[in-house]
Amino acid sequence: AAPIITIDGPSASGKTSVARLVAQRLGIPYISSGLLYRAVALMCLLENVTAEEIEHRLGKYRLELHPTPEANRVLLNGKDVTESLHNLEVDAVVSAVAKRPGVRAYVNAVLRELPGPFVIDGRDMGSTVFPEAKYKFYLTASPEVRASRRVPERDAAYETVLAEILRRDQADATQSAPAKDALLLDTSHLDLDGVVQAVLGHLTE
Ligand code: C5P
Repeated sequence: AAPIITIDGPSASGKTSVARLVAQRLGIPYISSGLLYRAVALMCLLENVTAEEIEHRLGKYRLELHPTPEANRVLLNGKDVTESLHNLEVDAVVSAVAKRPGVRAYVNAVLRELPGPFVIDGRDMGSTVFPEAKYKFYLTASPEVRASRRVPERDAAYETVLAEILRRDQADATQSAPAKDALLLDTSHLDLDGVVQAVLGHLTE
C-alpha cells in the first residue's frame, strides 16, 4: 500500500505548512484534516446553531475535500468554501464542534475515503484515524512561538492570538495526545525549512 505520513500537533505548530512542503518534495498530495472540522464550524455559523445541533443536521451536507500538492479545496454541497475557513469566527467555534462524536465520525469517514499516498496533518491522524501509517510525526512549540507565527495569518493582535491558542490547546486536549509511535519534534528553535528537513531525514524506504 502507498505510504501515509501523519503530522499531528497543536494549533499553529506549523503542521500544515510542513505537511505541504514535505508532500511537495515527495510529489504526493497533502491533506489538512482541520479544514473539515472548520467546514462543520462554518455550517454552525451559516445556520446560527450550536455544535450539539449541527451534529444532527450533518445529513443535509455533502462535504468534499480535494487535495493536490499545492492546495486543499473544501466543497460544501458543491460550493467552494475554502476561503471562509481561516478566521477568528471559525477558530472560536471549531473546538466545540470537533468534540462531538458524531462530527468526528463524519469527518473521519470523509478522510478514510481519500486514496493514498498522502501527507496528512491534524490532531489524531497518527493515533486514531490512520494508526497503520508508516511514518508519524508530532510537532510541538511553545504557545508564544506559535502565536507569533500565527499573527500574520490573522487580522489580530499578538495577545488576542496567544489567548486563542491557549484556549484551543485546552479545548482540543482530548484528541491531541501524540500517537505512541510518533516521533516528537520540538520546532521552537527551527524555521520551516529546518522542520521539513528533519521530517524528510526520517523517511526511508
Ligand atoms: O488544524 P487546525 O488548527 O486548522 O484545526 C482546527 C480545529 O479542528 C482544531 O482546533 C481542533 O478542534 C479540530 N481538529 C481536530 N482533529 C483534527 C484536526 C482538527 O479535532 N485531526
